[in-house]
Amino acid sequence: MTQRIRMAVFPVAGLGTRVLPATKTIPKEMLTVVDRPVLQHCVEEAREAGIEHFVFVTGRNKAVIEDHFDMAYELEDTLKRRNKNKELEELMRDLPRAGATSFTRQQAPLGLGHAVWCARDIIGNKPFAVLLPDMITLPGKHGGRCLAQCIEAYEKHDGNVIAVEEVAMKETDKYGVVAIGKDFGHTFEIKGMVEKPAKGTAPSTSIISGRYILKPEIFSILENVGAGAGGEIQLTDGMKKLSESQGFYGVRFDGKTYDTGSKVGFLAANVAFAMSRDDIRPGFLNELKKIIPSL
Ligand code: UTP
Repeated sequence: MTQRIRMAVFPVAGLGTRVLPATKTIPKEMLTVVDRPVLQHCVEEAREAGIEHFVFVTGRNKAVIEDHFDMAYELEDTLKRRNKNKELEELMRDLPRAGATSFTRQQAPLGLGHAVWCARDIIGNKPFAVLLPDMITLPGKHGGRCLAQCIEAYEKHDGNVIAVEEVAMKETDKYGVVAIGKDFGHTFEIKGMVEKPAKGTAPSTSIISGRYILKPEIFSILENVGAGAGGEIQLTDGMKKLSESQGFYGVRFDGKTYDTGSKVGFLAANVAFAMSRDDIRPGFLNELKKIIPSL
């Protein structure tokens, strides 16, 4: 029997340089897609997948994230007095239960591997999920959003799990790439991984896309892994080491993933999420047709 995945880590300490100047004072995770911060979409995905405790690894200038997951007494009181019940209900629905969030600081942005390692004392000795909050997803045919599909794969294989997506071979040098072993269709065995491979050397076109299920042995490895590509402590390097002693499985997420950490990805996410909302689609499509008459 696999141990249930109850906790998820959200590394939110990066600088977001790709979306400057928007992120000069606003953390990129707080930029809005339709009517919620990017990070709230991610928390929803985790909640839908059964996550009960949300661990945020924050950095300087990210205090607003903590406030977002707290009560906003004056606002709630004003909404109540003005009978804005729908708005109030929505606020309360998005709020995690008391005690269901933890915040820790990554004092310097030394890399994703280091950010995940910062959560070690909060997670303890249990398998856990990691969600990169700049990636947001819409459900696929297989059922659920990306993390739900990862948890299903973890329960099936009882190993570490990485969600992947496909890119063109010429794009692979920008990402972590996995080598594919035994193939089960929706999932597969990972037999190698490499962070930002030199052009033409990638072992496949399946890139690591921002959702992971990891066993706690990753923490002691990350403690010693040292800086890798880009001078950063890379999660991929830690996972590669862990794969020498534990199984890793890939999940071909069949829904849509949007990288809100890039300007074009952020805009595409807004269009896709708006079009997925029954209350917004008709009005939004009208406006889009005014901008792009050929639609
Ligand atoms: P990215 O490389 O996409 O984030 O890391 P970044 O560094 O903020 O982006 P750019 O390239 O400067 O625009 C993926 C995730 O890992 C987190 C980021 O916040 C992001 O969610 N991260 C990255 C950390 O928490 N700490 C780090 O040291 C690096």
